[in-house]
Amino acid sequence: MVAIPARQEIITGDCLAVLPTLADNSIDVCVTSPPYNLGIKYATYDDTLPPDEYLPRLTDVFAEIKRVLKDDGSFFLNMGYTNLNPWVSTEVSLLAGDLFTLQNRITWVKSITVGETTTGHFKPINSGRFLNYTTEDIFHFTKRGDVKIDRLAIGVPYADKTNIARFKREADLRCRGNAWFIPYETSVQNRRKGHPARFPVALPEQCIKLHGLSAGMMVLDPFAGLGTTLAAAKRLGVNAIGIEIAPVYSEMAQCVPVTWQKSDRGLFLPTLGGRGRYIEIVDGRKRIVVKSLAQGV
Ligand SMILES: C[S@@+](CC[C@H](N)C(=O)[O-])C[C@H]1O[C@@H](n2cnc3c(N)ncnc32)[C@H](O)[C@@H]1O
Repeated sequence: MVAIPARQEIITGDCLAVLPTLADNSIDVCVTSPPYNLGIKYATYDDTLPPDEYLPRLTDVFAEIKRVLKDDGSFFLNMGYTNLNPWVSTEVSLLAGDLFTLQNRITWVKSITVGETTTGHFKPINSGRFLNYTTEDIFHFTKRGDVKIDRLAIGVPYADKTNIARFKREADLRCRGNAWFIPYETSVQNRRKGHPARFPVALPEQCIKLHGLSAGMMVLDPFAGLGTTLAAAKRLGVNAIGIEIAPVYSEMAQCVPVTWQKSDRGLFLPTLGGRGRYIEIVDGRKRIVVKSLAQGV
């Protein structure tokens, strides 16, 4: 049998318009970092929305993620915060918590000082009252909190090798725990790469591996930026769909661009394997009328 190579595709558009085109229960892992509403200067998106607009929009996105996620799927939500808005990560995670079960809570450590030695980068702040913040949250949500994960896929070798026999382990690997040190690129490197708020590729890579790899699996990032989650999927040889509102970012992503195509019944997105749906344009207006591609286009 000839193996079908995995594809990583990016769709330029508003995820609230594009997510309805994806089929129910079609995604194994969603890894995403939404805008934090902290005034980051994105190419097109306004990151200074009033909370009564910002939070309901994310609720709608999370509801769509739940619809497209398989029952044994994982949703990794990365959120940061600043000292001026220290609750935003918690507020957003609580919205997701209304729809999902929080199965694991992970701290992404960008920089750590052990003794007198600091490893990793962070954005320093000049303040007489605040500490530099060197961590972000990664919330691992699942539908029922009972999804089997592959802890040893991101495991670390035992420091004390006698533990291998003592704990009857087959390999020299133990669970890494929920504090993940993943060094962040400096802001200078970040700017050079054209996006103000990327995460390192190791972050989505670790999330996907923790969920577990399987043949034909599908990864989603509805706030794809420069496609870092898709780059991780590519490294791991798995399929992925990204959605990004700013063409300037999606065009830079190193993956296959997907564009709306016309048919006599409207516009449709020919996403992976034709499993998508299409949206009709009626009287020149885009109506979110979702129909299965199986009905024919
Ligand atoms: C925190 S960044 C994600 C960066 C990404 N993780 C990476 O490593 O490149 C959030 C991204 O969401 C995009 N965005 C904002 N609103 C969107 C929407 N409604 N639909 C799709 N993308 C959106 C922004 O343009 C921005 O690139």
